[in-house]
Amino acid sequence: MARVEQSTFICTENADEAGPTNNWMAPKEMYQKLRGYAAGSMQGRTMYVIPYLMGPPGSPLAKVGVELTDSIYVALSMGTMTRMGSVAFEQLGGEDDDFNRGLHCMLDVNPERRYIAHFPKDNAIISVGSNYGGNVLLGKKCLALRIGSYLGRQEGWFAEHMLILGVESPTGEKTYIAAAFPSACGKTNFAMMQPPAQFKGWKVWTIGDDIAWMKPGPDGRLYAINPEAGYFGVVPGTNSKSNPGAVEMISRDTVYTNVALTPDLDVWWEGKDGPVPKECLDWKGNKWTPDSKEKAAHPNSRFTAPMTNNPMLAPEANDTQGVPISAIVFGGRRGDTMPLVYQAFNWVHGVYIGATMGSEMTAAAVGGAGQVRRDPMAMLPFCGYHMGDYFRHWINMHKTIKNPPRIFHVNWFRKNSQGEYLWPGFGENMRVLKWIVDRCHSRTDAIESALGWVPGPGSIDLTGLAGFPPERLDELQAISEDEWRKELIMQDELFMQLHNRLPKELIFQRELLLARL
Ligand code: OXD
Ligand code: MN
Repeated sequence: MARVEQSTFICTENADEAGPTNNWMAPKEMYQKLRGYAAGSMQGRTMYVIPYLMGPPGSPLAKVGVELTDSIYVALSMGTMTRMGSVAFEQLGGEDDDFNRGLHCMLDVNPERRYIAHFPKDNAIISVGSNYGGNVLLGKKCLALRIGSYLGRQEGWFAEHMLILGVESPTGEKTYIAAAFPSACGKTNFAMMQPPAQFKGWKVWTIGDDIAWMKPGPDGRLYAINPEAGYFGVVPGTNSKSNPGAVEMISRDTVYTNVALTPDLDVWWEGKDGPVPKECLDWKGNKWTPDSKEKAAHPNSRFTAPMTNNPMLAPEANDTQGVPISAIVFGGRRGDTMPLVYQAFNWVHGVYIGATMGSEMTAAAVGGAGQVRRDPMAMLPFCGYHMGDYFRHWINMHKTIKNPPRIFHVNWFRKNSQGEYLWPGFGENMRVLKWIVDRCHSRTDAIESALGWVPGPGSIDLTGLAGFPPERLDELQAISEDEWRKELIMQDELFMQLHNRLPKELIFQRELLLARL
């Protein structure tokens, strides 16, 4: 029911190449082990052969994979999440063998024999002993992020854990933004945002909700495609307030996993529109009533829905060249310390902000929910090589991007001393998004703070935001010396872990921040 990071391995030739943030095993040893488990394991079962394409057909950025699986859940979900079928072979062409080799065997879904193993040099993945999407839909986390990030470094592009959206202004101007948030922090909601009524004529279009592949274009801008064709989103909390587009999107053609089942065979989850059912079967199949202590739907229960169902789908989602990115937004789930929004002074400062991102852990991964962990660029569980080399790649890419995107940091989750959220979030995030768009077009104020550029007085539009006294924005933007002292110590723990391959530029950025504070 969640990704298992302790069972996820990067099998590079030596351990240092995978780095201290990944589990490692030598390829030979892992192949031997997993081929042993796989041998004969599909006997008497159906094996599905899934050719699939990640990215728009004909895109120079697209990649082909073939996944073998004995799970019909995987076969059906891959049909939604990827462009599946002959389109993959067409992209590959006659003699080309440049495709990802994927093997998935459910075995007896026993955690003792659960491995998600990546072989970057062979462009191969073997996943055994699980049937959870993030572990077994091999195009997503395994190919598009872990193998993708490895290839991206070699080939000069980025594979990132980012949503992609387009903001259309009343004059028809379109600004494209990529944003990295850790798992289950609202990427899908953000990518499908409906602006509040007072933002008349403004529209948000979705290109992708989870993954961006980005490459510098001939004009020196960074171009992004969404390699996926569907959304594998968190179900609980999805309702017509948090994400009206998603409610429509998942009303048909959707595979639900680990939600509750009502007596009339409908699905249900905590936070769904409408009344709470008097009784249902919980995600484990046990009888559930509103008095039950356990949740009816697993907190990481998921929907798998085709992007063509998304009423906000941008037509550009099928552009072979991708969309030019004007801003990159980093963000985490932080009850304290982090302001609502600030902007990096420059590219390297932006890389530092992304590299030091922290977030309270969620149900998307097994264990530790609620604790703050460093999650650089939201890629901690998804970077297919040494995280220090990954930072170096980010810094180096600046040379090939003459017009780099501006970089921002946001936090929708700051709380007051009573533990209440200070910012309403969801559609109201449009107010922050508009400031970001305006900054990209140099048409709004910012003032310099110790952290970076922050909105000038009145430059975040709060009109029509009921029950929100303007002083609360100061509380949201406050920089507490005490909290930042702790923050910098926590950042240092990550830097120490990566020390042998950590770019010096990031150490200097930390020193500069310390001095400014
Ligand atoms: C996801 C995740 O499922 O990040 O997208 O875990
Ligand atoms: Mn994700």
